[in-house]
Amino acid sequence: KRKVILDCDPGHDDAISIILAASKESPLQIEAITTVAGNIDLEKCTYNALNVCEMIGLDVPVAMGAEKPLLGKKVTAGDFHGESGLDGPELPSVPVRKPVDQHAVDLIIEKVLESEQKITLVPTGPLTNIALALMKEPKIKENVEEIVLMGGGTFGNWTPAAEFNIWVDAEAAEVVFESGVPIAMFGLDVTHLALADREVMDRVAAVDHPVAHFVFELLEFFSKTYKDVFNFEAGPIHDACTAMYLMNPDLFEFKHVHVDIETKGEYTKGMTSVDLLGVTKKPPNVHFAVHLHQHSFWDRFEEALKSYAEA
Ligand code: BDR
Ligand code: CA
Repeated sequence: KRKVILDCDPGHDDAISIILAASKESPLQIEAITTVAGNIDLEKCTYNALNVCEMIGLDVPVAMGAEKPLLGKKVTAGDFHGESGLDGPELPSVPVRKPVDQHAVDLIIEKVLESEQKITLVPTGPLTNIALALMKEPKIKENVEEIVLMGGGTFGNWTPAAEFNIWVDAEAAEVVFESGVPIAMFGLDVTHLALADREVMDRVAAVDHPVAHFVFELLEFFSKTYKDVFNFEAGPIHDACTAMYLMNPDLFEFKHVHVDIETKGEYTKGMTSVDLLGVTKKPPNVHFAVHLHQHSFWDRFEEALKSYAEA
């Protein structure tokens, strides 16, 4: 199995990503879940991660990470994810499970250094923890197989130029994108093709299992906020593209390109400058996802949820 560490800020789509990665036929072995302030503050993201683990019976260490970006102020995305960060389903306000007594950054370093097999890092929130781990212990680079992340794109959702995860901690993103570690990037160009529309919701609703029901409630809330904020007819399950890719690499198409992070612009801070035409002549540092095969994507998505019911 491919070993992964899910670094996240759940978040509806983060939660769905965890649920897919942990599904019964998954080719992934989740080594740990680490949390970072993003969609909501660190404590709530951690509560949500623990509640998701409880919900799906996933026993892995959950460690709390950075409570704010490397520089600058903390900003959250309550408009999309509600006050708890995971509004919609009924969840205990204090989870049964507890986080481990180790900082996420140290857990990432320890897991990567001690693993015989290379580990893939899967960040679906701001890149603060990953940047801190790379700076604190650069030796981890040798044993990280790939960083498979959701962030950025050729347009923005937080500003016209910047996507939320990158905008929140652009300096951390810069550290990660310049690290030399292979990166697979799922930006808005492709995540906006993963729209959980009515037909998808009906398919999820038809799976008779509490986990599928939980996913349905997450999708219901998320599509409502996307309707309210952007007038979208459905919610894009951004982060889940990372798990779907790791589980089914054939679902996506990529371009190997150079990506720079804008950390300073008055209008463009947090922008990912994606050199699709190779105009910078800089060496490619990112496998940039440009397409997903929607039909098979939702078939596999449904299969992963059904695996809970069949187990
Ligand atoms: C990203 O921002 C968050 O709201 C989502 O969880 C996702 O990681 C999309 O821009
Ligand atoms: Ca997220």
